[in-house]
Amino acid sequence: MKKILVTGATGFTGGHLAQRLAKEGANVRTLARPGEDCAALEAAGIEIVRGDLTDRDSLFPAVQNVEIVYHIAAAFREEGVPQQLFWDVNVEGTRNLMNVSISAGIKRFVHCSTVGVQGEIKNPPATEEAPYQPGDYYQESKVDGEKLVLQYIHDKKFPAVIFRPVGIYGPGDTRFLKIFRFIHKGSFRMFGSGKVLYHLTYVEDLVDGIILAGTVPDIEGEIFTLGGAQYVPLNELVQLIGHALNKTVSTKHIPVWPVWLAGAICEALCRPFRINPPLYRRRVDFFIKDRAFDISKAQSRLGYAPKVDLQTGLKRTAEWYHEEHLLD
Ligand SMILES: NC(=O)c1ccc[n+]([C@@H]2O[C@H](COP(=O)([O-])OP(=O)(O)OC[C@H]3O[C@@H](n4cnc5c(N)ncnc54)[C@H](OP(=O)(O)O)[C@@H]3O)[C@@H](O)[C@H]2O)c1
Repeated sequence: MKKILVTGATGFTGGHLAQRLAKEGANVRTLARPGEDCAALEAAGIEIVRGDLTDRDSLFPAVQNVEIVYHIAAAFREEGVPQQLFWDVNVEGTRNLMNVSISAGIKRFVHCSTVGVQGEIKNPPATEEAPYQPGDYYQESKVDGEKLVLQYIHDKKFPAVIFRPVGIYGPGDTRFLKIFRFIHKGSFRMFGSGKVLYHLTYVEDLVDGIILAGTVPDIEGEIFTLGGAQYVPLNELVQLIGHALNKTVSTKHIPVWPVWLAGAICEALCRPFRINPPLYRRRVDFFIKDRAFDISKAQSRLGYAPKVDLQTGLKRTAEWYHEEHLLD
């Protein structure tokens, strides 16, 4: 049986994807950096190949005898690292993986991008056609990675499909933990009106969409936005999380522009010293930019059908945070 390669399986999304594929009986291999703990993946019968996206030679063993590559890995949560790392991994790492995939004769390459490449949305919900408008260097590196994949599709007839997830949540995620923690304490500081729209995808729904992107025929060259069935204003999201945590939440609204300005000043002051600013604009962007996306292309072309509504997904996430004592 031909192999399926998943990159980023030591992380949140790639881990869910690799585990699901293994559970369904696929022959799964993952790329993991040297030293990463892969016990849970190994226990699920997943083969581990050690390597690093930035080291092309380390990738040849990972793609050998592989039919489908799910490229989920990215420099994403890293803090306190040079900005160049985001290009080294998200652009040059993707190039390395595509080049070795070509030499191995893979049949489908599924590339994980992000709706962040479209940054601020002028007329929500945005389709895949909305222009690139990255808001920070992570998103810029994801734009460049996506453009590189499109170039390979065009110039080399590379059999790739691109998907762009909205904010991913669910058991295993710690990115949204901070918000849950504030709400768990019973109060939430909302910068701005809280009327901006936010769009989430429950990780298991997303995994359904990713697998469809790897298996539906004749979709090479296409880009799909993958999100939940519902997007809501931030004010409502806060209340839904409160409900999931069985907490009554009081929301305190704080003017946003002084904080945004402080973020810009912190970034400017910290940049020459290559230190992490204590406050930066991307944090504030969460409160001021509409993030609502149209998933109808994925629904009609892939048969994508998210099943987990926000209420249920947030409840499951809250339960996992409790089990892991992350809210104590
Ligand atoms: N989370 C979201 O809300 C969200 C939204 C939109 C798009 N995305 C995209 O979704 C994907 C997965 O996100 P996530 O939240 O699951 O990320 P994550 O938990 O931070 O996982 C990232 C994975 O990439 C691996 N990685 C990083 N640098 C690598 C390198 N040089 N070589 C090999 N592997 C490397 C990490 O390995 P280590 O364990 O060794 O660090 C980890 O397995 C990313 O492409 C991200 O851009 C995420």
